[in-house]
Amino acid sequence: MAELRGFSFTTVFFFFFAVVFAIASAAEEPHGFLQSEKLVKKPVREKLSHLRFYWHDVVSGPDPTAVPVARAAASSTNASASGFGTVVVIDDPMTVGPEMSSRLVGRAQGFYALAAKEETALLMAMNLAFVEGKYNGSTITVLGRNAVFSDVREMPVVGGSGLFRLARGYAQARTYSVDLGTRDAVVEDNVFVMHY
Ligand SMILES: *[C@@H]1O[C@H](CO)[C@@H](O)[C@H](O)[C@H]1NC(C)=O
Ligand SMILES: *[C@@H]1O[C@H](CO)[C@@H](O)[C@H](O)[C@H]1NC(C)=O
Repeated sequence: MAELRGFSFTTVFFFFFAVVFAIASAAEEPHGFLQSEKLVKKPVREKLSHLRFYWHDVVSGPDPTAVPVARAAASSTNASASGFGTVVVIDDPMTVGPEMSSRLVGRAQGFYALAAKEETALLMAMNLAFVEGKYNGSTITVLGRNAVFSDVREMPVVGGSGLFRLARGYAQARTYSVDLGTRDAVVEDNVFVMHY
């Protein structure tokens, strides 16, 4: 009797796995819509990269790299000390040193919105598009909060492409200099990113 129970248990178990296997195989047709790889079969090594560069936000002059494209009704944005409601599109050069004339490593392309009523804090959504050496054509996507008068502003890296595929990490921004007349700013950026 015990033997019989054991037998039926094994049969049920076998049947269960046969069904699971059949479902899994059906989901992985060779030219199907969805193909999955079992990552445990391969050693997947992640790297941690630290990128350091300077980011130039030029709002003045004949060739600005940050242009306001929208603001709230005058009664909101113009009356607000924090500029609440303004949206600025950027294509800011990123250079290896703090001088604009130093080597270009990429451009920060995206936008920021002044998203706080009580202080100057931005929602930033941008792609860091690199042009340097083997990173040429690869991007890192940053989405986060930038309270511009804080010493260090940390923003999440939410993804990347090319060499930064599947990236995750964070970016730390520190103001290097700001011209209080023109409001042009140079920001040191340290990006720590895990990728493959
Ligand atoms: C709001 O401020 C902007 C920038 O200073 C200015 O160009 C615009 O004319 C102002 N709008 C109103 C309705 O006051
Ligand atoms: C980066 O790639 C673009 C497009 O492939 C190419 O035109 C450019 O010369 C490259 N720049 C560098 C610095 O390698």
